Amino acid sequence: MIGAAAQVPPPPTPPAAAARRHRHLLDFTDWTAEEVVSLLDTAEVMAQVLARPVKRVPALQGYTVATLFFEDSTRTRLSFERAARAQSADVISFAAGGSSLRKGESIRDTLRTIEQLQADLYVVRHPSAGVPHQLARWTNGAVVNAGDGRHAHPTQALLDAYTLRAALTAAGLPPAERERPFTGRRLAVVGDVEHSRVARSNAELFTLLGGEVVLCGPAALLPRELSRLPGVHLTADLREAVTGADAVMALRIQHERLGPKRLPSLAEYVARYQVRPAHLELAAPHAFVMHPGPLNRDVEVASELADGERSLVERQVASGVPVRMAVLYSLLVGKK
Ligand code: CP
Repeated sequence: MIGAAAQVPPPPTPPAAAARRHRHLLDFTDWTAEEVVSLLDTAEVMAQVLARPVKRVPALQGYTVATLFFEDSTRTRLSFERAARAQSADVISFAAGGSSLRKGESIRDTLRTIEQLQADLYVVRHPSAGVPHQLARWTNGAVVNAGDGRHAHPTQALLDAYTLRAALTAAGLPPAERERPFTGRRLAVVGDVEHSRVARSNAELFTLLGGEVVLCGPAALLPRELSRLPGVHLTADLREAVTGADAVMALRIQHERLGPKRLPSLAEYVARYQVRPAHLELAAPHAFVMHPGPLNRDVEVASELADGERSLVERQVASGVPVRMAVLYSLLVGKK
């Protein structure tokens, strides 16, 4: 392995990280478009590392990344751990199930315990909004929000932006402006917006980068306050939402957060809000289909679209690794 590593050229130098003034990534409050674009550009450099025969660089050697998951995850946890190891960081993996939380240990004491294992950065997912912010106040380490309640999932929005920017460029539609790559572009987000941290983070990020976002779903699942964000519109009409869109992102119904109220029958929901091929015909000619996962096939999106040639679903998952490599690198190395 060492011999093989010695035969490949050194990693490309990431662009100057404008993200360096940030200690944490909790949401996009206080992030500028320039800083976000710098992260996306750094992720492109990381993708070059992952395309090499030896997909590992020593950038984070000596650092320890702890993944603290108080809620289930497949994509986010695995790609953060892959991103850390690809940069030679050590990884501590904590999942609430099977931990001493079940014996009554508090979150704060859990954090203190893991701090004794000398972690430098905590990747935190929790079902309650605000927990990553609280941990950031308690620790000297860096904290990355990996999804808190319905509040924010910033690295998901980053990987969505990274994936869509690349797909539009490959389709011959490169950004006219470097720092506002989605100027003139529209993202339609369809489904259970009310409970979706992905919808909120995408609405913040896509508009920060110059685009327009249409949030669509049953009226009871459309939080009015989101329409106060400049560049964000709400509609309960799926055909209106997708017309002219550059990408249509379907969201699953979050039954675990929904409770007994407000959803019509699943059959009625599917009839009115499932994204189908006929909807894509109303979108822009190049329009892409996106989904953050996990996906409930043939509920929020027809399988033929999710698996079709205009689907970015698998590319979104793959983008999670270089994007999260860029986040870890920028917060750990960039802050020095
Ligand atoms: N998109 C997303 O957060 O997926 P996981 O819940 O599998 O991490």
